[in-house]
Amino acid sequence: MKTSRRSAVDPFIVMDVMEAARAAEDAGRHIIHMEVGQPGTGAPRAATDALARAMNAGPLGYTVALGLPALRARIARMYGEWYNVDLDPARVVVTSGSSGGFILAFTALFDTGDRVAIGAPGYPSYRQILRALDLQAVDLPTAPQNRYQPVPADFADMDIAGLMVASPANPTGTMLDHAAMGALIEATHAKGASFISDEIYHGIEYEAKAVTALELTDEAYVINSFSKYFSMTGWRVGWMVVPPDHVRVVERLAQNMFICAPHAAQVAALAAMDCEDELQANMDVYRANRALMLDGLPAAGFTKIAPPDGAFYVYADVSDLTDDSRALAADILERAGVAVTPGLDFDPLRGHHTLRFSYARSTTDIAEGLNRLKAYMDAR
Ligand SMILES: Cc1ncc(COP(=O)(O)O)c(C=O)c1O
Repeated sequence: MKTSRRSAVDPFIVMDVMEAARAAEDAGRHIIHMEVGQPGTGAPRAATDALARAMNAGPLGYTVALGLPALRARIARMYGEWYNVDLDPARVVVTSGSSGGFILAFTALFDTGDRVAIGAPGYPSYRQILRALDLQAVDLPTAPQNRYQPVPADFADMDIAGLMVASPANPTGTMLDHAAMGALIEATHAKGASFISDEIYHGIEYEAKAVTALELTDEAYVINSFSKYFSMTGWRVGWMVVPPDHVRVVERLAQNMFICAPHAAQVAALAAMDCEDELQANMDVYRANRALMLDGLPAAGFTKIAPPDGAFYVYADVSDLTDDSRALAADILERAGVAVTPGLDFDPLRGHHTLRFSYARSTTDIAEGLNRLKAYMDAR
Protein backbone atom coordinates (compact mmCIF):
# COMPACT_ATOMS: atom_id res chain seq x y z
CA MET A 1 0.00 0.00 0.00
CA LYS A 2 1.16 3.49 -0.75
CA THR A 3 1.96 5.89 2.09
CA SER A 4 1.28 9.61 1.98
CA ARG A 5 3.90 12.22 1.20
CA ARG A 6 2.98 14.00 4.42
CA SER A 7 3.91 10.97 6.49
CA ALA A 8 7.57 11.16 5.41
CA VAL A 9 8.72 12.85 8.62
CA ASP A 10 12.24 12.54 10.02
CA PRO A 11 13.05 10.20 12.90
CA PHE A 12 14.00 11.58 16.30
CA ILE A 13 17.82 11.08 16.40
CA VAL A 14 17.83 11.07 20.22
CA MET A 15 15.85 7.83 19.99
CA ASP A 16 18.74 6.31 18.02
CA VAL A 17 21.14 7.45 20.76
CA MET A 18 18.88 5.90 23.39
CA GLU A 19 18.84 2.66 21.42
CA ALA A 20 22.67 2.63 21.13
CA ALA A 21 22.92 3.30 24.89
CA ARG A 22 20.51 0.45 25.58
CA ALA A 23 22.53 -1.92 23.38
CA ALA A 24 25.70 -0.94 25.27
CA GLU A 25 23.94 -1.63 28.58
CA ASP A 26 22.75 -5.00 27.27
CA ALA A 27 26.38 -5.77 26.50
CA GLY A 28 27.19 -5.16 30.18
CA ARG A 29 28.43 -1.57 30.08
CA HIS A 30 27.44 1.12 32.57
CA ILE A 31 26.11 4.17 30.73
CA ILE A 32 25.38 7.63 32.13
CA HIS A 33 22.26 9.03 30.48
CA MET A 34 22.66 12.66 29.51
CA GLU A 35 20.54 12.20 26.39
CA VAL A 36 17.04 11.76 27.79
CA GLY A 37 14.74 14.74 28.14
CA GLN A 38 12.67 13.51 31.02
CA PRO A 39 12.81 13.57 34.81
CA GLY A 40 14.31 10.50 36.48
CA THR A 41 11.51 10.79 39.07
CA GLY A 42 7.94 9.52 38.72
CA ALA A 43 4.61 11.22 39.35
CA PRO A 44 4.21 12.69 42.84
CA ARG A 45 3.03 10.19 45.45
CA ALA A 46 -0.28 11.93 46.11
CA ALA A 47 -1.04 11.74 42.38
CA THR A 48 -0.73 7.95 42.24
CA ASP A 49 -2.68 7.67 45.53
CA ALA A 50 -5.51 9.77 44.06
CA LEU A 51 -5.59 7.55 41.00
CA ALA A 52 -5.70 4.37 43.12
CA ARG A 53 -8.72 5.76 44.97
CA ALA A 54 -10.42 6.78 41.70
CA MET A 55 -9.83 3.34 40.15
CA ASN A 56 -11.57 1.70 43.09
CA ALA A 57 -14.41 4.18 43.04
CA GLY A 58 -15.55 4.12 39.43
CA PRO A 59 -15.05 3.12 35.81
CA LEU A 60 -12.91 6.08 34.61
CA GLY A 61 -14.76 6.33 31.31
CA TYR A 62 -14.48 9.19 28.84
CA THR A 63 -14.39 12.69 30.25
CA VAL A 64 -15.83 15.63 28.33
CA ALA A 65 -13.52 16.67 25.49
CA LEU A 66 -12.21 19.82 27.16
CA GLY A 67 -11.21 17.87 30.27
CA LEU A 68 -12.37 17.35 33.87
CA PRO A 69 -13.94 20.64 35.05
CA ALA A 70 -12.06 20.43 38.38
CA LEU A 71 -8.73 20.09 36.56
CA ARG A 72 -9.49 23.01 34.23
CA ALA A 73 -10.41 25.13 37.26
CA ARG A 74 -7.22 24.13 39.12
CA ILE A 75 -5.05 24.94 36.10
CA ALA A 76 -6.75 28.36 35.80
CA ARG A 77 -6.09 28.96 39.52
CA MET A 78 -2.41 28.16 38.97
CA TYR A 79 -2.14 31.10 36.54
CA GLY A 80 -3.21 33.35 39.40
CA GLU A 81 -0.72 31.77 41.81
CA TRP A 82 2.25 31.63 39.45
CA TYR A 83 1.82 34.75 37.30
CA ASN A 84 -0.94 36.83 38.86
CA VAL A 85 -3.03 36.26 35.73
CA ASP A 86 -6.80 36.00 36.16
CA LEU A 87 -7.78 33.17 33.81
CA ASP A 88 -11.28 31.93 32.98
CA PRO A 89 -11.23 28.09 33.33
CA ALA A 90 -13.45 27.99 30.23
CA ARG A 91 -10.33 28.84 28.17
CA VAL A 92 -8.37 25.81 29.43
CA VAL A 93 -8.35 22.69 27.25
CA VAL A 94 -6.87 19.51 28.74
CA THR A 95 -4.84 17.66 26.09
CA SER A 96 -2.96 14.39 25.59
CA GLY A 97 0.38 15.93 26.53
CA SER A 98 1.60 19.07 24.86
CA SER A 99 2.06 16.87 21.78
CA GLY A 100 -1.74 16.56 21.58
CA GLY A 101 -1.89 20.32 22.07
CA PHE A 102 0.34 20.95 19.04
CA ILE A 103 -1.93 18.90 16.80
CA LEU A 104 -5.02 20.74 18.04
CA ALA A 105 -3.37 24.15 17.81
CA PHE A 106 -1.89 23.71 14.35
CA THR A 107 -5.17 22.28 13.03
CA ALA A 108 -7.28 25.03 14.61
CA LEU A 109 -5.06 27.88 13.41
CA PHE A 110 -3.62 26.98 10.01
CA ASP A 111 -4.67 25.89 6.52
CA THR A 112 -2.81 23.56 4.14
CA GLY A 113 0.46 25.09 3.00
CA ASP A 114 0.54 27.84 5.63
CA ARG A 115 4.02 28.84 6.75
CA VAL A 116 4.78 28.64 10.45
CA ALA A 117 8.03 30.06 11.81
CA ILE A 118 9.96 28.19 14.49
CA GLY A 119 13.30 29.02 16.10
CA ALA A 120 16.30 26.84 15.25
CA PRO A 121 17.56 25.18 17.34
CA GLY A 122 14.19 24.03 18.61
CA TYR A 123 12.16 21.02 19.66
CA PRO A 124 12.24 18.73 16.58
CA SER A 125 8.64 17.59 16.62
CA TYR A 126 7.26 21.07 15.83
CA ARG A 127 8.76 20.76 12.37
CA GLN A 128 7.66 17.17 11.86
CA ILE A 129 4.08 17.66 13.11
CA LEU A 130 3.70 20.72 10.89
CA ARG A 131 4.95 18.68 7.94
CA ALA A 132 2.56 15.82 8.72
CA LEU A 133 -0.31 18.31 8.65
CA ASP A 134 0.77 19.65 5.25
CA LEU A 135 2.01 22.89 6.77
CA GLN A 136 5.39 24.45 6.11
CA ALA A 137 7.83 24.87 8.97
CA VAL A 138 10.09 27.88 8.39
CA ASP A 139 13.29 27.68 10.45
CA LEU A 140 14.51 30.94 11.95
CA PRO A 141 18.25 30.46 12.59
CA THR A 142 18.64 32.11 15.99
CA ALA A 143 21.83 33.78 17.19
CA PRO A 144 23.99 33.02 20.24
CA GLN A 145 23.90 36.74 21.14
CA ASN A 146 20.09 36.44 21.34
CA ARG A 147 20.63 33.37 23.49
CA TYR A 148 19.23 31.20 20.69
CA GLN A 149 15.75 32.77 20.87
CA PRO A 150 14.07 34.36 17.82
CA VAL A 151 13.79 38.16 17.59
CA PRO A 152 11.36 40.15 15.37
CA ALA A 153 14.12 40.95 12.82
CA ASP A 154 14.45 37.21 12.10
CA PHE A 155 11.02 37.13 10.41
CA ALA A 156 10.44 40.79 9.50
CA ASP A 157 10.40 40.11 5.75
CA MET A 158 8.61 36.80 5.89
CA ASP A 159 5.11 35.85 4.93
CA ILE A 160 4.06 33.66 7.85
CA ALA A 161 0.76 32.52 9.33
CA GLY A 162 2.20 31.79 12.75
CA LEU A 163 5.18 31.95 15.09
CA MET A 164 5.90 29.24 17.62
CA VAL A 165 8.25 29.96 20.54
CA ALA A 166 9.40 27.98 23.56
CA SER A 167 10.59 29.55 26.81
CA PRO A 168 12.44 27.95 28.53
CA ALA A 169 13.50 26.30 25.30
CA ASN A 170 14.64 22.83 24.40
CA PRO A 171 17.60 22.33 23.68
CA THR A 172 19.07 25.53 25.15
CA GLY A 173 17.07 26.18 28.33
CA THR A 174 17.08 29.91 27.52
CA MET A 175 14.03 32.09 28.23
CA LEU A 176 12.26 35.13 26.81
CA ASP A 177 11.76 37.96 29.30
CA HIS A 178 8.68 40.26 29.22
CA ALA A 179 10.24 42.65 26.72
CA ALA A 180 11.49 39.93 24.36
CA MET A 181 8.22 37.98 24.47
CA GLY A 182 6.22 41.21 24.06
CA ALA A 183 8.23 42.26 20.99
CA LEU A 184 7.65 38.85 19.36
CA ILE A 185 3.91 38.95 20.09
CA GLU A 186 3.61 42.46 18.69
CA ALA A 187 5.58 41.64 15.52
CA THR A 188 3.55 38.45 14.98
CA HIS A 189 0.21 40.20 15.45
CA ALA A 190 1.30 43.05 13.14
CA LYS A 191 1.52 40.43 10.39
CA GLY A 192 -1.94 39.10 11.21
CA ALA A 193 -0.23 35.85 12.26
CA SER A 194 -0.95 33.59 15.25
CA PHE A 195 1.33 33.39 18.27
CA ILE A 196 1.89 30.03 19.95
CA SER A 197 3.89 29.73 23.16
CA ASP A 198 5.22 26.34 24.31
CA GLU A 199 5.54 26.72 28.07
CA ILE A 200 6.18 23.06 28.92
CA TYR A 201 9.29 23.84 31.02
CA HIS A 202 7.59 26.44 33.22
CA GLY A 203 8.23 25.72 36.88
CA ILE A 204 11.74 24.47 36.04
CA GLU A 205 13.46 27.82 36.13
CA TYR A 206 16.50 28.98 38.14
CA GLU A 207 17.14 32.71 38.26
CA ALA A 208 13.82 34.32 37.31
CA LYS A 209 10.22 33.12 36.87
CA ALA A 210 9.37 32.26 33.28
CA VAL A 211 6.97 34.66 31.55
CA THR A 212 3.71 33.28 30.18
CA ALA A 213 2.37 34.85 26.99
CA LEU A 214 -0.91 35.29 28.92
CA GLU A 215 0.73 38.05 30.98
CA LEU A 216 0.96 40.02 27.73
CA THR A 217 -2.00 39.03 25.58
CA ASP A 218 -5.13 36.90 25.40
CA GLU A 219 -4.57 36.50 21.65
CA ALA A 220 -2.22 33.53 21.82
CA TYR A 221 -2.27 29.79 22.20
CA VAL A 222 -0.34 28.72 25.30
CA ILE A 223 0.67 25.06 25.42
CA ASN A 224 1.82 23.32 28.57
CA SER A 225 2.10 19.85 30.03
CA PHE A 226 2.34 17.74 33.16
CA SER A 227 5.39 15.98 31.66
CA LYS A 228 8.26 18.06 33.02
CA TYR A 229 7.75 20.12 36.23
CA PHE A 230 5.04 17.70 37.38
CA SER A 231 7.26 14.74 36.42
CA MET A 232 4.54 12.83 34.53
CA THR A 233 5.91 12.17 31.04
CA GLY A 234 4.27 8.81 30.43
CA TRP A 235 0.87 9.87 31.67
CA ARG A 236 0.23 11.85 28.50
CA VAL A 237 -1.60 14.81 29.90
CA GLY A 238 -1.11 18.50 29.27
CA TRP A 239 -3.16 21.59 28.57
CA MET A 240 -3.67 24.51 26.28
CA VAL A 241 -5.09 27.98 26.93
CA VAL A 242 -6.81 29.51 23.91
CA PRO A 243 -8.57 32.83 23.23
CA PRO A 244 -12.24 32.81 24.33
CA ASP A 245 -13.58 32.70 20.76
CA HIS A 246 -11.40 29.67 19.92
CA VAL A 247 -12.67 27.38 22.68
CA ARG A 248 -15.53 25.93 20.65
CA VAL A 249 -13.29 25.48 17.58
CA VAL A 250 -10.75 23.50 19.60
CA GLU A 251 -13.49 21.60 21.45
CA ARG A 252 -14.94 20.30 18.15
CA LEU A 253 -11.50 19.18 17.00
CA ALA A 254 -10.69 17.58 20.38
CA GLN A 255 -14.01 15.69 20.42
CA ASN A 256 -13.25 14.17 17.04
CA MET A 257 -9.50 13.67 17.23
CA PHE A 258 -9.04 12.49 20.82
CA ILE A 259 -12.50 12.26 22.50
CA CYS A 260 -10.63 13.27 25.65
CA ALA A 261 -7.22 13.12 27.33
CA PRO A 262 -6.73 9.94 29.41
CA HIS A 263 -9.16 10.10 32.34
CA ALA A 264 -6.77 8.34 34.75
CA ALA A 265 -4.00 10.78 33.93
CA GLN A 266 -6.33 13.74 34.48
CA VAL A 267 -7.21 12.48 37.96
CA ALA A 268 -3.52 12.08 38.82
CA ALA A 269 -2.63 15.46 37.30
CA LEU A 270 -5.19 17.25 39.46
CA ALA A 271 -3.66 15.77 42.62
CA ALA A 272 -0.11 16.48 41.36
CA MET A 273 -0.89 20.19 41.33
CA ASP A 274 -0.98 20.17 45.13
CA CYS A 275 2.35 18.35 45.59
CA GLU A 276 4.53 21.42 45.83
CA ASP A 277 6.94 19.95 48.43
CA GLU A 278 7.77 16.89 46.36
CA LEU A 279 8.06 18.91 43.15
CA GLN A 280 10.33 21.44 44.82
CA ALA A 281 12.53 18.56 46.03
CA ASN A 282 12.92 17.58 42.35
CA MET A 283 13.85 21.20 41.64
CA ASP A 284 16.58 21.05 44.30
CA VAL A 285 18.12 18.16 42.36
CA TYR A 286 17.97 20.04 39.03
CA ARG A 287 19.49 23.11 40.70
CA ALA A 288 22.41 21.10 42.09
CA ASN A 289 22.86 19.34 38.73
CA ARG A 290 22.83 22.63 36.84
CA ALA A 291 25.56 24.05 39.10
CA LEU A 292 27.68 20.93 38.50
CA MET A 293 27.16 21.19 34.73
CA LEU A 294 28.03 24.89 34.56
CA ASP A 295 31.36 24.14 36.28
CA GLY A 296 32.03 20.69 34.91
CA LEU A 297 31.34 21.17 31.20
CA PRO A 298 33.79 24.09 30.74
CA ALA A 299 36.32 22.26 32.96
CA ALA A 300 36.03 19.28 30.60
CA GLY A 301 36.56 21.53 27.57
CA PHE A 302 32.98 22.27 26.48
CA THR A 303 33.41 26.01 26.87
CA LYS A 304 30.89 27.46 24.39
CA ILE A 305 27.65 27.11 26.32
CA ALA A 306 24.75 29.46 27.05
CA PRO A 307 23.87 29.12 30.77
CA PRO A 308 20.31 27.79 30.87
CA ASP A 309 17.59 29.88 32.55
CA GLY A 310 15.31 26.88 32.85
CA ALA A 311 14.57 23.28 31.77
CA PHE A 312 17.32 20.70 32.30
CA TYR A 313 19.56 20.99 29.24
CA VAL A 314 22.83 22.61 28.27
CA TYR A 315 23.46 23.21 24.57
CA ALA A 316 27.13 23.33 23.63
CA ASP A 317 28.81 24.58 20.48
CA VAL A 318 31.45 21.94 19.68
CA SER A 319 32.59 23.38 16.34
CA ASP A 320 36.17 23.45 17.63
CA LEU A 321 35.96 19.67 18.19
CA THR A 322 34.02 18.36 15.19
CA ASP A 323 32.03 18.91 11.98
CA ASP A 324 30.01 15.82 12.75
CA SER A 325 28.16 15.96 16.07
CA ARG A 326 26.61 12.56 15.40
CA ALA A 327 30.03 10.90 15.16
CA LEU A 328 31.23 12.81 18.25
CA ALA A 329 28.18 11.67 20.25
CA ALA A 330 28.78 8.08 19.11
CA ASP A 331 32.45 8.32 20.13
CA ILE A 332 31.55 9.78 23.56
CA LEU A 333 29.13 6.90 24.09
CA GLU A 334 31.69 4.34 22.96
CA ARG A 335 34.74 5.65 24.80
CA ALA A 336 33.32 7.54 27.78
CA GLY A 337 30.10 5.60 28.38
CA VAL A 338 28.05 8.82 28.38
CA ALA A 339 25.01 9.17 26.11
CA VAL A 340 24.54 12.72 24.75
CA THR A 341 22.35 14.07 21.93
CA PRO A 342 23.78 15.45 18.68
CA GLY A 343 22.35 18.89 17.79
CA LEU A 344 20.98 17.70 14.43
CA ASP A 345 17.62 16.86 15.99
CA PHE A 346 17.18 20.50 16.92
CA ASP A 347 18.85 22.32 14.07
CA PRO A 348 19.19 20.45 10.76
CA LEU A 349 21.69 23.00 9.39
CA ARG A 350 23.94 24.00 12.27
CA GLY A 351 23.40 21.00 14.52
CA HIS A 352 26.50 19.31 13.04
CA HIS A 353 28.41 21.55 15.42
CA THR A 354 26.40 21.17 18.62
CA LEU A 355 25.56 18.71 21.39
CA ARG A 356 22.77 18.74 23.97
CA PHE A 357 23.53 17.55 27.50
CA SER A 358 20.56 16.74 29.73
CA TYR A 359 20.90 16.96 33.52
CA ALA A 360 17.49 15.57 34.45
CA ARG A 361 18.86 12.49 36.24
CA SER A 362 20.29 12.04 39.75
CA THR A 363 23.11 14.27 40.97
CA THR A 364 25.35 11.22 41.45
CA ASP A 365 24.88 10.33 37.78
CA ILE A 366 25.59 13.89 36.65
CA ALA A 367 28.80 14.06 38.73
CA GLU A 368 29.96 10.72 37.32
CA GLY A 369 29.03 11.78 33.76
CA LEU A 370 31.06 14.97 34.09
CA ASN A 371 34.08 13.01 35.41
CA ARG A 372 33.86 10.69 32.42
CA LEU A 373 33.51 13.59 29.97
CA LYS A 374 36.60 15.26 31.44
CA ALA A 375 38.63 12.04 31.18
CA TYR A 376 37.42 11.61 27.58
CA MET A 377 38.35 15.13 26.58
CA ASP A 378 41.73 14.94 28.35
CA ALA A 379 42.53 11.80 26.33
CA ARG A 380 41.54 13.35 22.96
C1 LIG B 1 9.88 21.89 24.14
C2 LIG B 1 9.05 20.65 24.24
N1 LIG B 1 7.75 20.72 23.91
C3 LIG B 1 6.97 19.63 23.97
C4 LIG B 1 7.46 18.39 24.34
C5 LIG B 1 6.52 17.20 24.34
O1 LIG B 1 6.06 16.91 25.61
P1 LIG B 1 4.74 16.14 26.03
O2 LIG B 1 4.01 15.72 24.81
O3 LIG B 1 5.22 15.00 26.87
O4 LIG B 1 3.93 17.12 26.84
C6 LIG B 1 8.80 18.27 24.71
C7 LIG B 1 9.36 16.98 25.12
O5 LIG B 1 10.51 16.81 25.40
C8 LIG B 1 9.61 19.44 24.65
O6 LIG B 1 10.92 19.40 24.96
